[in-house]
Amino acid sequence: MHPDFTSQLTKAVRLVETKLDDCLPSVAQSLVAEPMRHAVLNGGKRLRGFLVLETAGLFDVNAKQALHAAAAIECIHAYSLVHDDLPCMDDDDLRRGKPTVHVKWDEATAVLVGDALQSLAYEILSTKGAADSDAIRVDLMGSLARASGANGMVLGQAQDIAAESAKAPLTLTQITDLQANKTGALIKWSAEAGAILAEQPMSALSDYASALGLAFQIQDDVLDIEGDAQATGKRLQKDVDAGKATFVSILGLDGAKARARSLVEQAQDMLSTYGAKADTLRNLAQYVIERDK
Ligand code: IPE
Ligand code: IPE
Ligand code: MG
Ligand code: MG
Ligand code: MG
Repeated sequence: MHPDFTSQLTKAVRLVETKLDDCLPSVAQSLVAEPMRHAVLNGGKRLRGFLVLETAGLFDVNAKQALHAAAAIECIHAYSLVHDDLPCMDDDDLRRGKPTVHVKWDEATAVLVGDALQSLAYEILSTKGAADSDAIRVDLMGSLARASGANGMVLGQAQDIAAESAKAPLTLTQITDLQANKTGALIKWSAEAGAILAEQPMSALSDYASALGLAFQIQDDVLDIEGDAQATGKRLQKDVDAGKATFVSILGLDGAKARARSLVEQAQDMLSTYGAKADTLRNLAQYVIERDK
């Protein structure tokens, strides 16, 4: 990957993690603080937070302000992972190279940690520093609620679980819809956040993120098959046995990789209106399919 991109991502990881550390409850304050911190601060690529910061940067939004939205989306994402790993969902004992919350603590704790992280996301967005006006704050909160709820990420997770026991394999259209909800919705919100903060049109960023989100999930599914357990910090080769409906299950490994490459080109093409200012977002699209974790 381009050395500039790597150092930009590293810098964003540091900023987002410092903000998250500030926002999370202290261990003295709450019984669930330690498992919350375990879920949020143990690794993670921070791609969603990075997307918020980079799209905000396109419109010269103050980085300190954009960090609120970046931290909020990382809280929602971490909550989705804690619940995704539960025995009643994907039943995983390893996440980001560490034991999952329900393994290190227990299932009740994992459910509550997810609940508390979801609440924390909206608390962060409600603070004065999160946007220039009350109207923008409401817009951020409303759009995040829609992206994460019953017509967004939660719907995708429900479709993902339903597909495991579907009588007939899902069609390509159905899988595309499932992935766009499960993974795409939060990625799309992350890319739109910059435009929301700046009160600017978002359609180019939305189109970029839709293609990026699908490419991102294809790479997740490819890594499940041929990734390295150490690098990903997850148990791999689980999707086939679980009967997951993925691009790989319908297109095969090579077909899915080709699809991901063309989605990345599509994503990059969507950014033409932003010129060279969007080069980091173009590099991010490439990174999404080159990543090994
Ligand atoms: C994993 O997301 C879950 C999916 C939506 C595929 P990431 O691969 O972004 O996980 P972290 O945050 O880097 O651990
Ligand atoms: C998880 O997708 C998506 C969400 C948490 C919303 P996966 O189940 O494929 O993610 P991993 O492989 O466990 O990270
Ligand atoms: Mg899952
Ligand atoms: Mg999973
Ligand atoms: Mg996966």
